[in-house]
Amino acid sequence: MTERPYRIMIVEDSETQALMLRYTLEKEGWEVSAAATAEEALEALNRGLPDLMVVDYHLPGIQGDELCRRLRMNVNTRGVPILMLTAEETDAAEMRGLESGADDYIAKSADPDILMLRVHALLRQSRAQGAILGPGDAYFHRARLLLIDDSLTYLEYLRGELEKEGYEVERATGGAGGLSRAASGAFDCILVDLVMPEMDGIEVCRRLTEMRRTMDNPIVVMMLTARETKEDMTRGLEAGADDFVGKSSDMAVLRARIRALLRRKFFQEENLRIIRELREQERALQAEGAERRRAEEALRAKDVEVRGMTQQLWQSAKLATMGELAASIAHELNNPLATVSLRVESLLADLSEEDPNRRALGVIEGEVERMGKLVANLLQFSRRTGQQISSVDVREEVRNTLELIHYHLRNRRIAVVQEFAPDAPVIQADRQQLRQLFLNLFTNASDAMPEGGALTIRVNAVGATRHPTCRCNDSRPLPWSPLQVVIEVADTGAGIAPEHLSRVMEPFFTTKEEGKGTGLGLAICRRIAQEHHGTLEIESEAGKGTTVRIALPVRNGSNARALMEG
Ligand SMILES: Nc1ncnc2c1ncn2[C@@H]1O[C@H](COP(=O)(O)OP(=O)(O)OP(=O)(O)O)[C@@H](O)[C@H]1O
Ligand SMILES: [Mg+2]
Repeated sequence: MTERPYRIMIVEDSETQALMLRYTLEKEGWEVSAAATAEEALEALNRGLPDLMVVDYHLPGIQGDELCRRLRMNVNTRGVPILMLTAEETDAAEMRGLESGADDYIAKSADPDILMLRVHALLRQSRAQGAILGPGDAYFHRARLLLIDDSLTYLEYLRGELEKEGYEVERATGGAGGLSRAASGAFDCILVDLVMPEMDGIEVCRRLTEMRRTMDNPIVVMMLTARETKEDMTRGLEAGADDFVGKSSDMAVLRARIRALLRRKFFQEENLRIIRELREQERALQAEGAERRRAEEALRAKDVEVRGMTQQLWQSAKLATMGELAASIAHELNNPLATVSLRVESLLADLSEEDPNRRALGVIEGEVERMGKLVANLLQFSRRTGQQISSVDVREEVRNTLELIHYHLRNRRIAVVQEFAPDAPVIQADRQQLRQLFLNLFTNASDAMPEGGALTIRVNAVGATRHPTCRCNDSRPLPWSPLQVVIEVADTGAGIAPEHLSRVMEPFFTTKEEGKGTGLGLAICRRIAQEHHGTLEIESEAGKGTTVRIALPVRNGSNARALMEG
Protein backbone atom coordinates (compact mmCIF):
# COMPACT_ATOMS: atom_id res chain seq x y z
CA MET A 1 0.00 0.00 0.00
CA THR A 2 1.46 3.38 -0.93
CA GLU A 3 1.14 5.94 1.84
CA ARG A 4 -0.65 9.19 1.08
CA PRO A 5 1.63 12.23 0.69
CA TYR A 6 2.22 14.34 3.79
CA ARG A 7 -0.05 17.34 4.27
CA ILE A 8 1.69 20.50 5.47
CA MET A 9 0.08 23.75 6.51
CA ILE A 10 2.07 26.98 6.31
CA VAL A 11 0.91 29.87 8.48
CA GLU A 12 2.76 32.91 7.17
CA ASP A 13 1.58 36.47 6.51
CA SER A 14 4.32 37.34 4.06
CA GLU A 15 3.26 36.13 0.64
CA THR A 16 6.81 35.80 -0.74
CA GLN A 17 7.98 33.81 2.27
CA ALA A 18 4.93 31.57 1.96
CA LEU A 19 5.57 30.99 -1.75
CA MET A 20 9.20 30.06 -1.18
CA LEU A 21 8.29 27.64 1.53
CA ARG A 22 5.53 26.10 -0.56
CA TYR A 23 7.97 25.62 -3.44
CA THR A 24 10.53 23.87 -1.20
CA LEU A 25 7.97 21.55 0.37
CA GLU A 26 6.04 20.71 -2.80
CA LYS A 27 9.31 19.58 -4.41
CA GLU A 28 9.15 16.64 -1.94
CA GLY A 29 5.79 15.62 -3.38
CA TRP A 30 3.85 16.82 -0.36
CA GLU A 31 0.49 18.59 -0.27
CA VAL A 32 0.91 22.15 0.94
CA SER A 33 -1.77 24.58 2.11
CA ALA A 34 -1.23 28.10 3.38
CA ALA A 35 -2.97 30.47 5.76
CA ALA A 36 -2.05 34.13 6.11
CA THR A 37 -3.25 34.45 9.71
CA ALA A 38 -3.68 32.27 12.77
CA GLU A 39 -7.45 32.76 12.54
CA GLU A 40 -7.49 31.46 8.99
CA ALA A 41 -5.37 28.51 10.08
CA LEU A 42 -7.78 27.63 12.91
CA GLU A 43 -10.70 27.70 10.45
CA ALA A 44 -8.81 25.43 8.07
CA LEU A 45 -8.03 22.97 10.88
CA ASN A 46 -11.76 22.35 11.29
CA ARG A 47 -11.77 20.82 7.82
CA GLY A 48 -8.86 18.46 8.42
CA LEU A 49 -5.61 18.08 10.28
CA PRO A 50 -2.23 18.40 8.54
CA ASP A 51 0.76 16.22 9.38
CA LEU A 52 2.82 19.28 10.18
CA MET A 53 2.35 23.01 10.63
CA VAL A 54 5.04 25.54 9.79
CA VAL A 55 4.13 28.69 11.72
CA ASP A 56 5.62 32.15 11.55
CA TYR A 57 6.04 33.62 15.03
CA HIS A 58 5.15 37.14 13.96
CA LEU A 59 1.60 37.14 12.74
CA PRO A 60 -1.02 39.89 12.68
CA GLY A 61 -3.83 39.29 15.19
CA ILE A 62 -3.25 36.04 17.06
CA GLN A 63 0.50 35.50 17.26
CA GLY A 64 2.33 32.30 16.63
CA ASP A 65 2.71 31.47 20.36
CA GLU A 66 -1.01 31.92 20.99
CA LEU A 67 -1.83 29.70 18.02
CA CYS A 68 0.46 27.03 19.46
CA ARG A 69 -1.18 27.28 22.83
CA ARG A 70 -4.64 26.81 21.34
CA LEU A 71 -3.54 23.81 19.34
CA ARG A 72 -2.04 22.23 22.43
CA MET A 73 -5.18 22.83 24.46
CA ASN A 74 -7.33 20.82 22.09
CA VAL A 75 -7.12 17.01 22.28
CA ASN A 76 -7.57 16.64 18.56
CA THR A 77 -4.78 18.97 17.57
CA ARG A 78 -2.51 18.34 20.54
CA GLY A 79 -0.42 15.92 18.51
CA VAL A 80 0.11 17.99 15.35
CA PRO A 81 3.83 18.89 15.18
CA ILE A 82 4.58 22.59 14.89
CA LEU A 83 7.73 24.13 13.46
CA MET A 84 8.06 27.77 14.43
CA LEU A 85 9.80 30.22 12.09
CA THR A 86 11.66 32.95 13.94
CA ALA A 87 13.59 36.06 13.03
CA GLU A 88 17.37 35.89 12.72
CA GLU A 89 18.09 36.48 16.38
CA THR A 90 16.03 34.24 18.65
CA ASP A 91 14.80 36.75 21.20
CA ALA A 92 12.97 36.16 24.48
CA ALA A 93 9.55 36.55 22.86
CA GLU A 94 10.31 33.82 20.37
CA MET A 95 11.51 31.57 23.12
CA ARG A 96 8.10 32.04 24.66
CA GLY A 97 6.70 30.71 21.41
CA LEU A 98 8.49 27.49 22.08
CA GLU A 99 7.30 27.41 25.65
CA SER A 100 3.78 27.67 24.34
CA GLY A 101 4.15 24.30 22.72
CA ALA A 102 6.01 24.45 19.36
CA ASP A 103 8.04 21.32 18.69
CA ASP A 104 10.97 23.05 17.09
CA TYR A 105 12.03 26.42 15.76
CA ILE A 106 14.24 27.58 12.97
CA ALA A 107 15.42 30.97 11.79
CA LYS A 108 13.81 32.13 8.57
CA SER A 109 17.24 32.71 7.07
CA ALA A 110 18.44 29.19 7.77
CA ASP A 111 19.76 26.96 4.96
CA PRO A 112 16.79 25.24 3.19
CA ASP A 113 18.58 21.89 3.73
CA ILE A 114 18.56 22.40 7.48
CA LEU A 115 14.90 23.38 7.29
CA MET A 116 14.17 20.15 5.40
CA LEU A 117 16.07 18.08 7.95
CA ARG A 118 13.95 19.51 10.72
CA VAL A 119 10.75 19.04 8.71
CA HIS A 120 11.60 15.38 8.02
CA ALA A 121 12.33 14.71 11.68
CA LEU A 122 9.01 16.19 12.73
CA LEU A 123 7.09 14.33 10.03
CA ARG A 124 8.46 11.02 11.22
CA GLN A 125 6.98 11.74 14.66
CA SER A 126 3.75 12.77 13.05
CA ARG A 127 3.32 9.45 11.21
CA ALA A 128 4.02 7.56 14.42
CA GLN A 129 1.38 9.57 16.23
CA GLY A 130 -1.09 9.43 13.37
CA ALA A 131 -2.36 6.10 14.55
CA ILE A 132 -3.66 7.49 17.82
CA LEU A 133 -5.15 10.68 16.39
CA GLY A 134 -8.81 10.59 15.46
CA PRO A 135 -10.20 11.87 12.17
CA GLY A 136 -9.79 15.58 11.62
CA ASP A 137 -12.78 16.62 13.69
CA ALA A 138 -10.89 19.51 15.24
CA TYR A 139 -12.84 21.91 17.31
CA PHE A 140 -11.88 25.42 16.45
CA HIS A 141 -13.85 28.36 15.32
CA ARG A 142 -13.19 32.05 15.09
CA ALA A 143 -14.39 33.38 18.41
CA ARG A 144 -17.70 35.22 18.08
CA LEU A 145 -18.07 38.38 20.15
CA LEU A 146 -21.17 40.41 20.96
CA LEU A 147 -20.77 44.04 22.02
CA ILE A 148 -23.61 45.67 23.95
CA ASP A 149 -23.29 49.42 24.42
CA ASP A 150 -25.60 52.42 24.04
CA SER A 151 -22.90 54.46 22.31
CA LEU A 152 -22.74 53.72 18.59
CA THR A 153 -19.37 55.45 18.26
CA TYR A 154 -17.79 53.31 20.94
CA LEU A 155 -19.35 50.21 19.42
CA GLU A 156 -17.85 51.00 16.02
CA TYR A 157 -14.45 51.72 17.50
CA LEU A 158 -14.39 48.54 19.49
CA ARG A 159 -15.62 46.44 16.59
CA GLY A 160 -12.80 47.73 14.38
CA GLU A 161 -10.20 46.99 17.00
CA LEU A 162 -11.44 43.52 17.78
CA GLU A 163 -11.94 42.46 14.18
CA LYS A 164 -8.27 43.20 13.70
CA GLU A 165 -7.68 40.48 16.29
CA GLY A 166 -9.50 38.07 14.03
CA TYR A 167 -12.77 37.87 15.96
CA GLU A 168 -16.21 37.84 14.42
CA VAL A 169 -17.97 40.79 16.03
CA GLU A 170 -21.66 41.69 16.32
CA ARG A 171 -23.15 44.77 17.98
CA ALA A 172 -26.30 45.66 19.89
CA THR A 173 -27.17 49.18 21.03
CA GLY A 174 -29.16 48.36 24.14
CA GLY A 175 -29.65 45.80 26.89
CA ALA A 176 -32.90 44.29 25.53
CA GLY A 177 -31.61 44.01 21.96
CA GLY A 178 -28.36 42.57 23.23
CA LEU A 179 -30.11 39.89 25.24
CA SER A 180 -32.21 38.73 22.30
CA ARG A 181 -29.09 38.61 20.08
CA ALA A 182 -27.31 36.61 22.80
CA ALA A 183 -30.19 34.14 22.94
CA SER A 184 -30.24 33.54 19.19
CA GLY A 185 -26.54 33.40 18.29
CA ALA A 186 -23.78 31.18 19.57
CA PHE A 187 -21.35 33.72 21.08
CA ASP A 188 -18.16 32.98 22.91
CA CYS A 189 -17.80 36.30 24.66
CA ILE A 190 -20.15 39.20 25.39
CA LEU A 191 -18.89 42.66 26.29
CA VAL A 192 -21.47 44.72 28.17
CA ASP A 193 -21.36 48.39 29.06
CA LEU A 194 -22.22 49.05 32.68
CA VAL A 195 -24.10 52.29 32.29
CA MET A 196 -26.95 52.16 29.76
CA PRO A 197 -30.42 53.73 29.72
CA GLU A 198 -33.48 51.43 30.12
CA MET A 199 -31.58 48.32 31.17
CA ASP A 200 -28.16 48.74 32.74
CA GLY A 201 -25.20 46.41 32.39
CA ILE A 202 -25.78 44.82 35.80
CA GLU A 203 -29.30 43.72 34.81
CA VAL A 204 -28.08 42.44 31.43
CA CYS A 205 -25.38 40.53 33.22
CA ARG A 206 -27.88 38.98 35.62
CA ARG A 207 -30.11 37.85 32.76
CA LEU A 208 -27.15 36.49 30.83
CA THR A 209 -26.13 34.53 33.93
CA GLU A 210 -29.64 33.00 34.00
CA MET A 211 -29.38 32.18 30.32
CA ARG A 212 -25.97 30.55 30.72
CA ARG A 213 -27.33 27.93 33.08
CA THR A 214 -29.19 26.25 30.23
CA MET A 215 -26.42 26.57 27.64
CA ASP A 216 -24.13 23.79 26.52
CA ASN A 217 -21.19 26.08 25.82
CA PRO A 218 -21.47 28.89 28.33
CA ILE A 219 -20.52 32.32 27.08
CA VAL A 220 -18.08 34.46 28.97
CA VAL A 221 -19.20 37.94 29.94
CA MET A 222 -16.99 40.99 30.31
CA MET A 223 -18.24 44.15 31.88
CA LEU A 224 -17.02 47.50 30.47
CA THR A 225 -17.23 50.66 32.46
CA ALA A 226 -16.22 54.26 32.18
CA ARG A 227 -15.35 54.48 35.85
CA GLU A 228 -13.30 51.81 37.48
CA THR A 229 -14.62 51.98 41.03
CA LYS A 230 -14.37 49.17 43.49
CA GLU A 231 -18.12 49.35 44.05
CA ASP A 232 -18.98 48.96 40.35
CA MET A 233 -16.57 46.10 40.05
CA THR A 234 -18.14 44.28 42.99
CA ARG A 235 -21.66 44.73 41.58
CA GLY A 236 -20.61 43.55 38.17
CA LEU A 237 -18.86 40.45 39.43
CA GLU A 238 -21.76 39.67 41.74
CA ALA A 239 -24.15 39.84 38.78
CA GLY A 240 -22.07 37.10 37.14
CA ALA A 241 -19.54 38.94 34.96
CA ASP A 242 -16.34 36.98 34.38
CA ASP A 243 -14.12 40.03 34.13
CA PHE A 244 -14.25 43.77 34.50
CA VAL A 245 -12.34 46.32 32.37
CA GLY A 246 -12.34 50.11 32.36
CA LYS A 247 -13.14 51.69 28.98
CA SER A 248 -10.25 54.03 29.48
CA SER A 249 -7.74 51.21 29.68
CA ASP A 250 -5.28 50.68 26.90
CA MET A 251 -6.79 48.70 24.01
CA ALA A 252 -3.90 46.22 24.41
CA VAL A 253 -5.09 45.52 27.94
CA LEU A 254 -8.65 44.88 26.76
CA ARG A 255 -7.39 42.61 23.98
CA ALA A 256 -5.23 40.65 26.40
CA ARG A 257 -8.10 40.25 28.86
CA ILE A 258 -10.46 39.04 26.12
CA ARG A 259 -7.85 36.58 24.93
CA ALA A 260 -7.31 35.27 28.44
CA LEU A 261 -11.05 34.88 28.99
CA LEU A 262 -11.50 33.02 25.73
CA ARG A 263 -8.55 30.80 26.38
CA ARG A 264 -10.07 29.79 29.70
CA LYS A 265 -13.43 29.21 28.09
CA PHE A 266 -12.01 27.03 25.32
CA PHE A 267 -9.99 25.15 27.84
CA GLN A 268 -13.07 24.48 29.97
CA GLU A 269 -15.07 23.43 26.92
CA GLU A 270 -12.32 21.09 25.95
CA ASN A 271 -12.22 19.63 29.44
CA LEU A 272 -15.99 19.19 29.47
CA ARG A 273 -15.83 17.45 26.12
CA ILE A 274 -13.13 15.08 27.36
CA ILE A 275 -15.08 14.37 30.55
CA ARG A 276 -18.24 13.70 28.51
CA GLU A 277 -16.34 11.36 26.23
CA LEU A 278 -14.80 9.53 29.19
CA ARG A 279 -18.20 9.17 30.87
CA GLU A 280 -19.67 7.79 27.67
CA GLN A 281 -16.83 5.31 27.36
CA GLU A 282 -17.30 4.35 31.00
CA ARG A 283 -21.06 3.85 30.47
CA ALA A 284 -20.42 1.74 27.38
CA LEU A 285 -17.92 -0.36 29.31
CA GLN A 286 -20.31 -0.80 32.22
CA ALA A 287 -23.14 -1.82 29.88
CA GLU A 288 -20.81 -4.27 28.18
CA GLY A 289 -19.76 -5.68 31.58
CA ALA A 290 -23.36 -6.11 32.76
CA GLU A 291 -24.26 -7.80 29.47
CA ARG A 292 -21.31 -10.17 29.81
CA ARG A 293 -22.22 -10.99 33.42
CA ARG A 294 -25.82 -11.76 32.37
CA ALA A 295 -24.59 -14.05 29.58
CA GLU A 296 -22.21 -15.82 31.97
CA GLU A 297 -25.00 -16.29 34.51
CA ALA A 298 -27.29 -17.75 31.84
CA LEU A 299 -24.50 -20.02 30.67
CA ARG A 300 -23.86 -21.29 34.20
CA ALA A 301 -27.60 -21.98 34.70
CA LYS A 302 -27.73 -23.85 31.38
CA ASP A 303 -24.66 -25.84 32.34
CA VAL A 304 -26.25 -26.91 35.64
CA GLU A 305 -29.45 -27.81 33.80
CA VAL A 306 -27.62 -29.88 31.19
CA ARG A 307 -25.59 -31.67 33.89
CA GLY A 308 -28.79 -32.53 35.75
CA MET A 309 -30.43 -33.80 32.58
CA THR A 310 -27.40 -35.88 31.64
CA GLN A 311 -27.38 -37.40 35.11
CA GLN A 312 -31.07 -38.28 34.86
CA LEU A 313 -30.70 -39.72 31.38
CA TRP A 314 -27.75 -41.79 32.46
CA GLN A 315 -29.63 -43.07 35.49
CA SER A 316 -32.73 -44.06 33.51
CA ALA A 317 -30.63 -45.66 30.76
CA LYS A 318 -28.81 -47.64 33.45
CA LEU A 319 -32.10 -48.73 34.99
CA ALA A 320 -33.54 -49.72 31.63
CA THR A 321 -30.49 -51.85 30.75
CA MET A 322 -30.52 -53.35 34.22
CA GLY A 323 -34.21 -54.19 33.87
CA GLU A 324 -33.69 -55.91 30.52
CA LEU A 325 -30.73 -57.85 31.82
CA ALA A 326 -32.50 -58.88 35.01
CA ALA A 327 -35.57 -60.02 33.08
CA SER A 328 -33.61 -62.24 30.71
CA ILE A 329 -31.45 -63.75 33.51
CA ALA A 330 -34.54 -64.41 35.62
CA HIS A 331 -36.25 -65.99 32.70
CA GLU A 332 -33.28 -68.25 31.91
CA LEU A 333 -32.88 -69.30 35.56
CA ASN A 334 -36.52 -70.05 36.26
CA ASN A 335 -36.73 -73.44 34.49
CA PRO A 336 -33.42 -75.01 35.65
CA LEU A 337 -34.22 -73.88 39.20
CA ALA A 338 -37.62 -75.56 39.04
CA THR A 339 -35.93 -78.76 37.81
CA VAL A 340 -33.29 -78.68 40.57
CA SER A 341 -35.97 -77.99 43.16
CA LEU A 342 -38.10 -80.89 41.97
CA ARG A 343 -35.12 -83.28 41.87
CA VAL A 344 -33.97 -82.34 45.36
CA GLU A 345 -37.51 -82.75 46.64
CA SER A 346 -37.84 -86.29 45.17
CA LEU A 347 -34.32 -87.25 46.39
CA LEU A 348 -35.25 -86.12 49.89
CA ALA A 349 -38.51 -88.06 49.72
CA ASP A 350 -36.57 -91.25 48.83
CA LEU A 351 -34.06 -90.90 51.71
CA SER A 352 -34.63 -92.31 55.13
CA GLU A 353 -34.72 -89.88 58.06
CA GLU A 354 -31.29 -91.02 59.27
CA ASP A 355 -29.51 -90.82 55.92
CA PRO A 356 -26.28 -88.74 56.34
CA ASN A 357 -26.92 -87.09 52.92
CA ARG A 358 -30.15 -85.56 54.13
CA ARG A 359 -28.38 -82.56 55.70
CA ALA A 360 -26.49 -81.74 52.50
CA LEU A 361 -29.65 -82.03 50.45
CA GLY A 362 -31.44 -79.81 52.96
CA VAL A 363 -28.78 -77.12 52.44
CA ILE A 364 -29.20 -77.44 48.64
CA GLU A 365 -32.97 -77.09 49.01
CA GLY A 366 -32.56 -73.94 51.13
CA GLU A 367 -30.14 -72.36 48.64
CA VAL A 368 -32.39 -73.21 45.70
CA GLU A 369 -35.24 -71.53 47.54
CA ARG A 370 -33.11 -68.42 48.04
CA MET A 371 -32.26 -68.39 44.34
CA GLY A 372 -35.95 -68.73 43.57
CA LYS A 373 -36.60 -65.61 45.65
CA LEU A 374 -33.88 -63.72 43.83
CA VAL A 375 -35.41 -64.67 40.51
CA ALA A 376 -38.81 -63.53 41.74
CA ASN A 377 -37.28 -60.22 42.86
CA LEU A 378 -35.62 -59.73 39.50
CA LEU A 379 -38.85 -60.43 37.68
CA GLN A 380 -40.64 -57.99 39.96
CA PHE A 381 -38.01 -55.38 39.26
CA SER A 382 -38.31 -55.79 35.53
CA ARG A 383 -42.12 -55.67 35.69
CA ARG A 384 -42.71 -59.00 34.09
CA THR A 385 -45.82 -59.46 36.25
CA GLY A 386 -49.03 -57.57 35.41
CA GLN A 387 -50.78 -55.28 37.88
CA GLN A 388 -54.03 -56.25 39.53
CA ILE A 389 -55.73 -53.06 40.69
CA SER A 390 -58.47 -53.15 43.31
CA SER A 391 -59.70 -51.17 46.31
CA VAL A 392 -57.20 -51.72 49.07
CA ASP A 393 -57.22 -50.72 52.73
CA VAL A 394 -53.56 -50.01 53.38
CA ARG A 395 -53.88 -50.75 57.11
CA GLU A 396 -55.15 -54.22 56.31
CA GLU A 397 -52.25 -54.94 53.97
CA VAL A 398 -49.77 -53.75 56.58
CA ARG A 399 -51.35 -56.10 59.13
CA ASN A 400 -51.33 -59.03 56.67
CA THR A 401 -47.69 -58.49 55.83
CA LEU A 402 -46.71 -58.23 59.50
CA GLU A 403 -48.50 -61.50 59.99
CA LEU A 404 -46.16 -63.12 57.45
CA ILE A 405 -42.98 -62.20 59.36
CA HIS A 406 -44.48 -62.25 62.82
CA TYR A 407 -42.26 -65.10 64.08
CA HIS A 408 -39.17 -63.72 62.53
CA LEU A 409 -39.66 -60.36 64.28
CA ARG A 410 -40.44 -61.97 67.60
CA ASN A 411 -37.28 -64.07 67.43
CA ARG A 412 -35.28 -60.92 66.88
CA ARG A 413 -36.94 -59.22 69.85
CA ILE A 414 -38.39 -56.52 67.67
CA ALA A 415 -41.45 -54.80 69.11
CA VAL A 416 -44.01 -53.78 66.52
CA VAL A 417 -45.96 -50.54 67.04
CA GLN A 418 -48.93 -49.81 64.77
CA GLU A 419 -50.22 -46.24 64.67
CA PHE A 420 -53.07 -46.22 62.18
CA ALA A 421 -55.34 -43.23 61.62
CA PRO A 422 -58.93 -44.43 61.93
CA ASP A 423 -60.06 -42.45 58.87
CA ALA A 424 -57.38 -43.68 56.43
CA PRO A 425 -59.21 -44.00 53.11
CA VAL A 426 -59.23 -46.96 50.77
CA ILE A 427 -56.93 -46.56 47.77
CA GLN A 428 -56.79 -48.12 44.32
CA ALA A 429 -53.70 -50.31 44.22
CA ASP A 430 -52.13 -53.66 43.41
CA ARG A 431 -52.48 -55.61 46.66
CA GLN A 432 -49.59 -57.99 45.88
CA GLN A 433 -47.26 -55.17 45.04
CA LEU A 434 -48.12 -53.33 48.25
CA ARG A 435 -47.41 -56.44 50.29
CA GLN A 436 -44.10 -56.84 48.46
CA LEU A 437 -43.27 -53.19 49.25
CA PHE A 438 -44.10 -53.55 52.95
CA LEU A 439 -42.29 -56.87 53.21
CA ASN A 440 -39.12 -55.38 51.72
CA LEU A 441 -39.24 -52.46 54.15
CA PHE A 442 -39.96 -54.61 57.19
CA THR A 443 -37.13 -57.00 56.23
CA ASN A 444 -34.73 -54.09 55.85
CA ALA A 445 -35.79 -52.71 59.25
CA SER A 446 -35.38 -56.10 60.85
CA ASP A 447 -31.93 -56.53 59.26
CA ALA A 448 -30.94 -53.15 60.68
CA MET A 449 -31.90 -54.26 64.22
CA PRO A 450 -30.01 -57.55 64.83
CA GLU A 451 -30.03 -56.84 68.56
CA GLY A 452 -33.73 -56.02 68.63
CA GLY A 453 -35.56 -52.70 68.69
CA ALA A 454 -38.85 -51.16 67.69
CA LEU A 455 -40.55 -51.17 64.32
CA THR A 456 -43.19 -48.48 64.11
CA ILE A 457 -45.65 -48.37 61.22
CA ARG A 458 -47.84 -45.30 60.83
CA VAL A 459 -50.67 -44.89 58.34
CA ASN A 460 -52.14 -41.42 57.97
CA ALA A 461 -54.38 -39.53 55.59
CA VAL A 462 -53.02 -36.10 54.59
CA GLY A 463 -53.96 -33.20 52.32
CA ALA A 464 -57.25 -31.41 51.76
CA THR A 465 -60.34 -33.22 50.63
CA ARG A 466 -61.68 -32.26 47.24
CA HIS A 467 -63.79 -29.10 47.29
CA PRO A 468 -67.29 -29.84 45.93
CA THR A 469 -67.19 -26.86 43.53
CA CYS A 470 -63.71 -27.66 42.22
CA ARG A 471 -63.82 -28.28 38.48
CA CYS A 472 -61.44 -28.95 35.64
CA ASN A 473 -61.19 -26.33 32.88
CA ASP A 474 -63.79 -28.22 30.89
CA SER A 475 -65.99 -28.15 34.02
CA ARG A 476 -65.94 -31.90 34.72
CA PRO A 477 -65.34 -32.70 38.38
CA LEU A 478 -61.64 -33.01 39.23
CA PRO A 479 -60.48 -36.56 38.36
CA TRP A 480 -59.23 -37.31 41.86
CA SER A 481 -58.99 -35.65 45.19
CA PRO A 482 -55.56 -34.46 46.30
CA LEU A 483 -55.73 -36.57 49.45
CA GLN A 484 -52.83 -38.90 50.10
CA VAL A 485 -52.25 -41.91 52.30
CA VAL A 486 -48.83 -41.71 53.93
CA ILE A 487 -47.22 -44.83 55.29
CA GLU A 488 -44.17 -44.49 57.51
CA VAL A 489 -41.96 -47.44 58.39
CA ALA A 490 -39.60 -46.42 61.19
CA ASP A 491 -36.98 -48.49 62.93
CA THR A 492 -34.51 -47.92 65.75
CA GLY A 493 -31.75 -49.75 63.92
CA ALA A 494 -28.23 -49.00 62.72
CA GLY A 495 -29.28 -46.24 60.31
CA ILE A 496 -27.70 -45.49 56.93
CA ALA A 497 -24.29 -43.86 56.59
CA PRO A 498 -24.66 -40.39 54.98
CA GLU A 499 -22.43 -41.39 52.06
CA HIS A 500 -24.74 -44.33 51.30
CA LEU A 501 -28.03 -42.49 51.60
CA SER A 502 -28.10 -41.28 48.01
CA ARG A 503 -27.27 -44.75 46.69
CA VAL A 504 -29.51 -47.13 48.66
CA MET A 505 -32.26 -46.97 46.03
CA GLU A 506 -29.91 -47.86 43.19
CA PRO A 507 -30.54 -51.39 41.93
CA PHE A 508 -27.95 -53.89 43.30
CA PHE A 509 -26.63 -51.51 45.95
CA THR A 510 -26.24 -53.45 49.17
CA THR A 511 -24.11 -53.32 52.29
CA LYS A 512 -25.06 -56.80 53.30
CA GLU A 513 -22.56 -59.65 53.15
CA GLU A 514 -22.35 -61.70 49.98
CA GLY A 515 -25.24 -64.06 49.52
CA LYS A 516 -27.40 -62.13 51.98
CA GLY A 517 -28.87 -59.22 50.03
CA THR A 518 -29.53 -58.65 46.34
CA GLY A 519 -29.68 -54.86 46.70
CA LEU A 520 -32.95 -54.82 44.79
CA GLY A 521 -35.37 -54.37 47.74
CA LEU A 522 -35.54 -50.55 47.83
CA ALA A 523 -35.34 -50.23 44.04
CA ILE A 524 -38.44 -52.41 43.82
CA CYS A 525 -40.15 -50.39 46.58
CA ARG A 526 -39.53 -47.14 44.74
CA ARG A 527 -40.77 -48.58 41.47
CA ILE A 528 -43.96 -49.82 43.15
CA ALA A 529 -44.55 -46.40 44.74
CA GLN A 530 -43.97 -44.70 41.38
CA GLU A 531 -46.28 -47.10 39.58
CA HIS A 532 -48.96 -46.03 42.03
CA HIS A 533 -48.16 -42.40 41.20
CA GLY A 534 -46.72 -42.02 44.66
CA THR A 535 -43.35 -41.17 46.21
CA LEU A 536 -40.83 -42.83 48.49
CA GLU A 537 -38.46 -40.91 50.74
CA ILE A 538 -35.86 -42.09 53.22
CA GLU A 539 -34.67 -40.27 56.31
CA SER A 540 -31.92 -41.82 58.31
CA GLU A 541 -29.43 -41.07 61.00
CA ALA A 542 -26.55 -43.43 61.53
CA GLY A 543 -26.84 -45.11 64.94
CA LYS A 544 -30.35 -43.80 65.54
CA GLY A 545 -32.62 -45.41 62.97
CA THR A 546 -34.33 -45.03 59.63
CA THR A 547 -37.75 -43.86 58.51
CA VAL A 548 -39.09 -44.68 55.06
CA ARG A 549 -42.07 -42.56 54.01
CA ILE A 550 -44.35 -43.65 51.17
CA ALA A 551 -47.08 -41.29 49.98
CA LEU A 552 -49.76 -42.79 47.74
CA PRO A 553 -52.48 -40.68 46.17
CA VAL A 554 -56.06 -41.60 46.83
CA ARG A 555 -57.96 -41.86 43.56
CA ASN A 556 -61.62 -42.40 42.90
CA GLY A 557 -62.94 -45.53 41.11
CA SER A 558 -62.74 -44.05 37.61
CA ASN A 559 -59.03 -43.70 38.03
CA ALA A 560 -58.28 -47.27 38.73
CA ARG A 561 -58.30 -47.64 34.94
CA ALA A 562 -55.72 -44.93 34.50
CA LEU A 563 -53.59 -46.67 37.10
CA MET A 564 -53.93 -50.00 35.34
CA GLU A 565 -52.91 -48.38 32.05
CA GLY A 566 -49.81 -47.14 33.75
N1 LIG B 1 -34.03 -49.76 57.47
C1 LIG B 1 -32.74 -49.71 57.10
N2 LIG B 1 -31.79 -49.43 58.02
C2 LIG B 1 -30.48 -49.38 57.70
N3 LIG B 1 -30.03 -49.58 56.40
C3 LIG B 1 -30.92 -49.85 55.46
C4 LIG B 1 -32.32 -49.92 55.74
N4 LIG B 1 -32.97 -50.19 54.58
C5 LIG B 1 -32.02 -50.29 53.62
N5 LIG B 1 -30.79 -50.10 54.13
C6 LIG B 1 -29.51 -50.09 53.42
O1 LIG B 1 -29.79 -50.01 52.05
C7 LIG B 1 -29.20 -51.11 51.35
C8 LIG B 1 -30.06 -51.47 50.19
O2 LIG B 1 -31.29 -51.96 50.62
P1 LIG B 1 -32.12 -52.88 49.68
O3 LIG B 1 -33.36 -53.29 50.39
O4 LIG B 1 -32.27 -52.24 48.37
O5 LIG B 1 -31.15 -54.10 49.48
P2 LIG B 1 -30.72 -55.18 50.54
O6 LIG B 1 -31.61 -55.12 51.70
O7 LIG B 1 -29.27 -54.98 50.76
O8 LIG B 1 -30.94 -56.48 49.69
P3 LIG B 1 -32.37 -57.17 49.36
O9 LIG B 1 -33.41 -56.27 49.89
O10 LIG B 1 -32.38 -57.26 47.89
O11 LIG B 1 -32.29 -58.46 50.04
C9 LIG B 1 -29.05 -52.13 52.38
O12 LIG B 1 -28.00 -53.04 52.06
C10 LIG B 1 -28.73 -51.35 53.64
O13 LIG B 1 -27.39 -51.00 53.67
MG1 LIG C 1 -33.68 -55.24 51.47
